[in-house]
Amino acid sequence: VKFTVKAQGPAKVASQAVIVSVFEGMDPLEGGASRVDAALSGTLVERLKGEAFEGKRRQVAVLDARGALPCPRIAVFGLGKKEEFHPGRFREGVAGTVRALRDRGVSEAALSLDPGALPAGPEAIARAAAEGALLGLYRFDLYREKDDQSKKELKSLVFLEESRKGKALAEKGLEAGKTVAEAVLFARDLVNMPANEMTPGLLARRAADMAKGRPLKVTVLDRAALKKMNMNALLAVSKGSDEPPKLILAEYRGGGRKTKPVVLVGKGVTFDSGGISLKPAERMHEMKGDMAGGAAVLAALRAAADLGLPLNVSAVVPAAENLPGGRATRPGDVVRSLRGKSIEIINTDAEGRLLLADALAYAERLDPEAVIDVATLTGACVVALGPEVAGLFGNDGGLVEKIRKASDETGEPVWELPLYREYGERLKSDTADLKNTGGREGGAVTAALFLENFVGKVPWAHLDIAGPAFSTKDRPDIPKGGTGFSVRLLVELLRSWTEGPAKSGGGR
Ligand code: BES
Ligand code: MN
Ligand code: ZN
Repeated sequence: VKFTVKAQGPAKVASQAVIVSVFEGMDPLEGGASRVDAALSGTLVERLKGEAFEGKRRQVAVLDARGALPCPRIAVFGLGKKEEFHPGRFREGVAGTVRALRDRGVSEAALSLDPGALPAGPEAIARAAAEGALLGLYRFDLYREKDDQSKKELKSLVFLEESRKGKALAEKGLEAGKTVAEAVLFARDLVNMPANEMTPGLLARRAADMAKGRPLKVTVLDRAALKKMNMNALLAVSKGSDEPPKLILAEYRGGGRKTKPVVLVGKGVTFDSGGISLKPAERMHEMKGDMAGGAAVLAALRAAADLGLPLNVSAVVPAAENLPGGRATRPGDVVRSLRGKSIEIINTDAEGRLLLADALAYAERLDPEAVIDVATLTGACVVALGPEVAGLFGNDGGLVEKIRKASDETGEPVWELPLYREYGERLKSDTADLKNTGGREGGAVTAALFLENFVGKVPWAHLDIAGPAFSTKDRPDIPKGGTGFSVRLLVELLRSWTEGPAKSGGGR
């Protein structure tokens, strides 16, 4: 979709559809909606009520303009209660509306950026709108023959902002929103690609391709280099597969030469069959998304570079495929990790923590200011928090708070779970320094505690995104499949990194 900003009102613009928004109750109508209402001689509310539309969030109505406007169709979306407004509502509303219009065969539309008097100005609204449109229109159709449905495309979306100062701000917000949303789509594509294509090798190539033309440096360590470095926990995960493992390092230097980088670590298991501790067949295919953490941190780095954020950030992605085979790691095998600690591998399906152990030790060598890892780590986290909320762990209150604030801003929900150190007992092994599973109960906590063993004395946080990385139902700005969860959160975290306490109240 191509975006433009025009200094025009919604009652004057010519397009296939004009989109306005309303608050719940619609009393009074404000902003763009009131302008359209005037052109309809004050009948808009009545007509909407006839469609059982009240202005609640996620409600969309498409009306025939009956010649009262230059546009033949009027699309109206609900923002919910005015006192609960935040730009996330606008993002969601735009996402649902553009999708509804596209499915009706509309290929160009105009959107009023004026919901009415609000603390959020045209920059925030335009940003939310650009994000909503791109996130909502996303389809993964790389492998499909074009059918009638996928031929439908919204090609142009015009943002309507009448004041001149507002227009400049809207253009700025639009650019920022587009940059961040495109990074999210990059992550979604990587997650949605099937594992026969999205191998560790391809993930590394995609990272290198993404870096081209951007101020990013990508280095890929291959199996020989990993052996030489003693990254045996990472190597253990890949042993059953013919696909060689990779460690991908991407670096962005937007800050001072001597400032320490923020290091993002992302789990890059391109397929998780469980290995010898084989998973049941039923939902195994979803495990092509087990590199969602890796995709998210690469996408966040891409956006940081495109936005020119003034700090240094690195991404580390340990990538491997977890398969059974004649050379696969067996339950009971012991490996010595990069950090020197030995690990007894009780369950080969607890592979994420193995390759993250080596990646976290590697991250420490980059002399980080803070380390944040993102991983589809445990089914237990999905049991604890459900499919939409990520688990948040951390050894530093300030860092955890920063992540919570960023999550509030972007509407990607996280909930803190405890690094309850008593449970460290459960990771004691009879033969090695640690074992890789701590039993079924509190599985998300023991997994996080396992990781903590490989983090040095730096502020560290861990996001378990096993639930929200992949969606089995369509939501307005999150279509089914890979969601790109945490990309916007990470970008917001990096953006706010050098600020004082962030302002609260954002995206949910
Ligand atoms: N990749 C899975 C976790 C997962 C589960 C992600 C469901 C997305 C949806 C991870 O590698 C795994 O298999 N974890 C095991 C750990 C157990 C063996 C200790 C689990 O959660 O069952
Ligand atoms: Mn697993
Ligand atoms: Zn896994």
